[in-house]
Amino acid sequence: LLASFGSRELAGLHVLVSAGPTYEDIDPVRFIGNRSSGRMGFAVAAAAVQAGATVTLIAGPVSLDTPVGVARRIDVRSAAQMHAAVLEAAAGADIYIGAAAVGDYRPLNVSAQKLKKQHGADWSLQLGENPDILASLSAQTAHPFLVGFAAETHDVASYAQDKLRRKGLDMIAANQVGEGLGFEASDNALTLYWDGGALELPRASKPELARQLIARVAERYRAVRS
Ligand code: CTP
Ligand code: CA
Repeated sequence: LLASFGSRELAGLHVLVSAGPTYEDIDPVRFIGNRSSGRMGFAVAAAAVQAGATVTLIAGPVSLDTPVGVARRIDVRSAAQMHAAVLEAAAGADIYIGAAAVGDYRPLNVSAQKLKKQHGADWSLQLGENPDILASLSAQTAHPFLVGFAAETHDVASYAQDKLRRKGLDMIAANQVGEGLGFEASDNALTLYWDGGALELPRASKPELARQLIARVAERYRAVRS
Protein backbone atom coordinates (compact mmCIF):
# COMPACT_ATOMS: atom_id res chain seq x y z
CA LEU A 1 0.00 0.00 0.00
CA LEU A 2 2.80 2.38 0.93
CA ALA A 3 4.23 2.15 -2.60
CA SER A 4 1.14 3.85 -3.99
CA PHE A 5 2.02 6.93 -1.93
CA GLY A 6 5.58 7.03 -3.27
CA SER A 7 6.69 9.97 -5.38
CA ARG A 8 5.55 9.79 -9.02
CA GLU A 9 8.78 11.26 -10.29
CA LEU A 10 8.34 9.89 -13.84
CA ALA A 11 4.69 10.83 -14.29
CA GLY A 12 3.93 11.81 -17.88
CA LEU A 13 7.12 10.23 -19.26
CA HIS A 14 7.48 7.24 -21.56
CA VAL A 15 10.22 4.86 -20.44
CA LEU A 16 11.57 2.12 -22.69
CA VAL A 17 13.42 -0.76 -21.00
CA SER A 18 15.28 -3.66 -22.60
CA ALA A 19 15.92 -6.76 -20.50
CA GLY A 20 17.28 -10.26 -20.59
CA PRO A 21 19.77 -12.03 -22.84
CA THR A 22 19.67 -12.44 -26.60
CA TYR A 23 19.98 -15.79 -28.33
CA GLU A 24 21.92 -16.04 -31.56
CA ASP A 25 20.86 -19.11 -33.49
CA ILE A 26 23.41 -21.50 -34.96
CA ASP A 27 20.90 -24.01 -36.33
CA PRO A 28 17.34 -25.08 -35.40
CA VAL A 29 18.48 -26.66 -32.11
CA ARG A 30 21.49 -24.60 -31.01
CA PHE A 31 22.21 -21.03 -30.10
CA ILE A 32 24.74 -18.74 -28.40
CA GLY A 33 23.31 -17.04 -25.32
CA ASN A 34 24.42 -15.59 -22.01
CA ARG A 35 23.54 -15.88 -18.33
CA SER A 36 21.29 -12.83 -18.00
CA SER A 37 18.06 -13.79 -16.21
CA GLY A 38 16.25 -10.56 -17.09
CA ARG A 39 15.42 -9.93 -13.43
CA MET A 40 17.28 -6.62 -13.12
CA GLY A 41 15.63 -5.22 -16.26
CA PHE A 42 12.17 -6.43 -15.25
CA ALA A 43 12.68 -4.85 -11.81
CA VAL A 44 13.66 -1.58 -13.53
CA ALA A 45 10.47 -1.73 -15.64
CA ALA A 46 8.39 -2.35 -12.48
CA ALA A 47 10.09 0.54 -10.66
CA ALA A 48 9.45 2.87 -13.60
CA VAL A 49 5.73 1.90 -13.50
CA GLN A 50 5.71 2.65 -9.75
CA ALA A 51 7.26 6.05 -10.51
CA GLY A 52 4.32 6.85 -12.79
CA ALA A 53 5.90 6.26 -16.21
CA THR A 54 4.27 4.67 -19.24
CA VAL A 55 6.55 1.67 -19.73
CA THR A 56 7.42 -0.36 -22.81
CA LEU A 57 9.45 -3.49 -22.10
CA ILE A 58 11.49 -5.22 -24.79
CA ALA A 59 12.38 -8.67 -23.50
CA GLY A 60 14.85 -11.24 -24.73
CA PRO A 61 14.20 -14.93 -24.02
CA VAL A 62 13.36 -14.99 -20.29
CA SER A 63 10.85 -16.85 -18.16
CA LEU A 64 9.43 -13.92 -16.23
CA ASP A 65 5.93 -12.52 -15.89
CA THR A 66 5.34 -9.02 -17.19
CA PRO A 67 5.39 -6.58 -14.25
CA VAL A 68 1.92 -5.25 -13.39
CA GLY A 69 1.23 -1.94 -15.11
CA VAL A 70 3.67 -2.33 -18.02
CA ALA A 71 1.83 -0.81 -21.00
CA ARG A 72 3.46 -2.91 -23.72
CA ARG A 73 5.80 -5.91 -23.80
CA ILE A 74 7.59 -6.98 -26.97
CA ASP A 75 9.38 -10.34 -26.92
CA VAL A 76 12.42 -10.79 -29.13
CA ARG A 77 15.11 -13.43 -29.50
CA SER A 78 18.20 -12.15 -31.28
CA ALA A 79 20.25 -8.97 -30.93
CA ALA A 80 19.14 -7.93 -34.44
CA GLN A 81 15.47 -8.29 -33.43
CA MET A 82 16.10 -6.37 -30.19
CA HIS A 83 17.91 -3.63 -32.14
CA ALA A 84 14.95 -3.22 -34.52
CA ALA A 85 12.33 -3.32 -31.71
CA VAL A 86 14.18 -0.79 -29.54
CA LEU A 87 14.81 1.62 -32.42
CA GLU A 88 11.15 1.55 -33.37
CA ALA A 89 9.87 2.02 -29.80
CA ALA A 90 12.49 4.68 -28.97
CA ALA A 91 10.79 7.13 -31.32
CA GLY A 92 8.13 7.79 -28.68
CA ALA A 93 10.30 7.37 -25.58
CA ASP A 94 11.72 10.00 -23.22
CA ILE A 95 14.11 7.60 -21.48
CA TYR A 96 15.74 4.35 -22.68
CA ILE A 97 17.25 2.03 -20.08
CA GLY A 98 19.32 -0.70 -21.76
CA ALA A 99 19.44 -3.45 -19.16
CA ALA A 100 19.60 -6.25 -21.73
CA ALA A 101 22.73 -8.36 -22.13
CA VAL A 102 22.88 -8.03 -25.90
CA GLY A 103 24.94 -10.64 -27.73
CA ASP A 104 27.99 -8.97 -29.24
CA TYR A 105 28.34 -11.47 -32.11
CA ARG A 106 26.11 -13.75 -34.15
CA PRO A 107 26.90 -16.75 -36.34
CA LEU A 108 27.36 -15.44 -39.88
CA ASN A 109 25.63 -18.45 -41.38
CA VAL A 110 22.53 -19.83 -39.68
CA SER A 111 21.94 -23.38 -40.84
CA ALA A 112 18.34 -24.25 -41.76
CA GLN A 113 19.10 -27.88 -40.95
CA LYS A 114 20.57 -29.35 -37.78
CA LEU A 115 24.34 -29.46 -38.16
CA LYS A 116 25.77 -32.96 -37.85
CA LYS A 117 28.79 -33.86 -35.76
CA GLN A 118 31.90 -34.61 -37.77
CA HIS A 119 33.65 -37.28 -35.72
CA GLY A 120 37.25 -36.58 -34.81
CA ALA A 121 37.38 -33.08 -36.27
CA ASP A 122 37.46 -29.67 -34.60
CA TRP A 123 34.77 -27.24 -35.54
CA SER A 124 34.84 -23.48 -35.71
CA LEU A 125 32.05 -21.00 -36.05
CA GLN A 126 32.41 -17.70 -37.85
CA LEU A 127 30.83 -14.79 -36.01
CA GLY A 128 29.92 -11.31 -37.16
CA GLU A 129 29.56 -8.26 -34.91
CA ASN A 130 26.05 -7.19 -33.91
CA PRO A 131 24.97 -3.54 -34.06
CA ASP A 132 25.23 -1.65 -30.77
CA ILE A 133 21.72 -0.58 -29.78
CA LEU A 134 22.75 2.20 -27.39
CA ALA A 135 25.33 3.58 -29.81
CA SER A 136 22.74 3.58 -32.66
CA LEU A 137 20.33 5.58 -30.52
CA SER A 138 22.98 8.00 -29.36
CA ALA A 139 23.98 8.65 -32.99
CA GLN A 140 20.46 9.92 -33.77
CA THR A 141 20.02 13.68 -33.49
CA ALA A 142 16.89 13.40 -31.34
CA HIS A 143 17.05 10.49 -28.94
CA PRO A 144 15.80 9.57 -25.49
CA PHE A 145 17.82 10.10 -22.30
CA LEU A 146 20.12 7.09 -22.44
CA VAL A 147 20.97 4.79 -19.54
CA GLY A 148 23.29 1.82 -20.03
CA PHE A 149 24.43 -1.04 -17.86
CA ALA A 150 27.96 -2.39 -17.67
CA ALA A 151 28.46 -5.83 -16.17
CA GLU A 152 32.15 -6.40 -15.65
CA THR A 153 34.29 -9.02 -13.95
CA HIS A 154 37.24 -6.62 -13.46
CA ASP A 155 38.24 -2.93 -13.70
CA VAL A 156 34.55 -2.06 -13.31
CA ALA A 157 34.90 1.71 -12.85
CA SER A 158 37.23 2.36 -15.79
CA TYR A 159 35.34 0.12 -18.24
CA ALA A 160 32.01 1.64 -17.20
CA GLN A 161 33.19 5.24 -17.50
CA ASP A 162 34.71 4.43 -20.87
CA LYS A 163 31.34 3.01 -22.07
CA LEU A 164 29.54 6.12 -20.75
CA ARG A 165 31.72 8.33 -22.95
CA ARG A 166 32.15 6.07 -25.97
CA LYS A 167 28.44 5.31 -26.33
CA GLY A 168 27.36 8.89 -25.58
CA LEU A 169 25.21 7.90 -22.58
CA ASP A 170 23.60 10.13 -19.97
CA MET A 171 24.16 7.57 -17.20
CA ILE A 172 25.63 4.11 -16.75
CA ALA A 173 24.95 1.55 -14.01
CA ALA A 174 27.99 -0.61 -13.43
CA ASN A 175 28.09 -3.87 -11.59
CA GLN A 176 30.70 -6.43 -10.73
CA VAL A 177 29.67 -9.90 -11.89
CA GLY A 178 30.40 -12.78 -9.53
CA GLU A 179 30.51 -13.26 -5.72
CA GLY A 180 26.76 -13.95 -5.60
CA LEU A 181 25.99 -10.71 -7.41
CA GLY A 182 24.72 -9.84 -10.86
CA PHE A 183 23.95 -12.55 -13.40
CA GLU A 184 21.90 -15.49 -12.06
CA ALA A 185 21.86 -13.90 -8.58
CA SER A 186 18.99 -12.31 -6.66
CA ASP A 187 21.13 -9.46 -5.29
CA ASN A 188 23.10 -6.85 -7.11
CA ALA A 189 25.21 -3.80 -6.29
CA LEU A 190 25.57 -0.88 -8.68
CA THR A 191 27.71 2.19 -9.12
CA LEU A 192 26.10 4.93 -11.17
CA TYR A 193 28.23 7.25 -13.29
CA TRP A 194 27.23 10.32 -15.22
CA ASP A 195 29.11 13.32 -16.57
CA GLY A 196 30.65 14.82 -13.46
CA GLY A 197 29.17 12.44 -10.89
CA ALA A 198 29.13 9.00 -9.37
CA LEU A 199 27.02 7.25 -6.75
CA GLU A 200 27.40 3.86 -5.14
CA LEU A 201 24.25 1.84 -4.53
CA PRO A 202 25.35 -0.90 -2.09
CA ARG A 203 24.30 -4.56 -2.24
CA ALA A 204 20.53 -4.97 -2.18
CA SER A 205 17.77 -6.94 -3.88
CA LYS A 206 17.25 -6.18 -7.56
CA PRO A 207 13.80 -4.58 -6.94
CA GLU A 208 15.30 -2.30 -4.26
CA LEU A 209 18.23 -1.31 -6.49
CA ALA A 210 15.87 -0.73 -9.39
CA ARG A 211 13.86 1.76 -7.28
CA GLN A 212 17.04 3.61 -6.32
CA LEU A 213 18.24 3.64 -9.93
CA ILE A 214 14.91 5.02 -11.17
CA ALA A 215 15.02 7.80 -8.54
CA ARG A 216 18.47 8.87 -9.80
CA VAL A 217 17.48 8.58 -13.45
CA ALA A 218 14.48 10.85 -12.78
CA GLU A 219 16.74 13.35 -11.03
CA ARG A 220 19.33 13.45 -13.84
CA TYR A 221 16.61 13.52 -16.51
CA ARG A 222 15.12 16.63 -14.88
CA ALA A 223 18.58 18.17 -14.58
CA VAL A 224 19.47 17.85 -18.28
CA ARG A 225 16.10 17.80 -20.08
CA SER A 226 13.94 20.42 -18.39
N1 CTP B 1 24.56 -2.82 -25.60
C1 CTP B 1 23.78 -2.49 -26.70
N2 CTP B 1 23.96 -3.14 -27.89
C2 CTP B 1 24.91 -4.08 -28.01
C3 CTP B 1 25.74 -4.42 -26.91
C4 CTP B 1 25.53 -3.76 -25.71
O1 CTP B 1 22.92 -1.61 -26.58
N3 CTP B 1 25.06 -4.70 -29.18
C5 CTP B 1 24.33 -2.11 -24.34
C6 CTP B 1 23.90 -3.00 -23.19
O2 CTP B 1 22.49 -3.15 -23.17
C7 CTP B 1 24.41 -2.24 -21.98
C8 CTP B 1 25.63 -1.52 -22.52
O3 CTP B 1 25.52 -1.50 -23.94
O4 CTP B 1 23.49 -1.27 -21.54
C9 CTP B 1 26.93 -2.13 -22.17
O5 CTP B 1 26.95 -3.48 -22.59
P1 CTP B 1 28.31 -4.30 -22.45
O6 CTP B 1 28.13 -5.66 -22.99
O7 CTP B 1 28.78 -4.13 -21.04
O8 CTP B 1 29.27 -3.41 -23.37
P2 CTP B 1 29.96 -3.69 -24.74
O9 CTP B 1 30.10 -2.34 -25.39
O10 CTP B 1 29.28 -4.75 -25.52
O11 CTP B 1 31.44 -4.15 -24.33
P3 CTP B 1 31.99 -5.56 -23.74
O12 CTP B 1 30.93 -6.61 -23.90
O13 CTP B 1 33.22 -5.81 -24.53
O14 CTP B 1 32.30 -5.28 -22.28
CA1 CA C 1 28.83 -6.85 -24.73
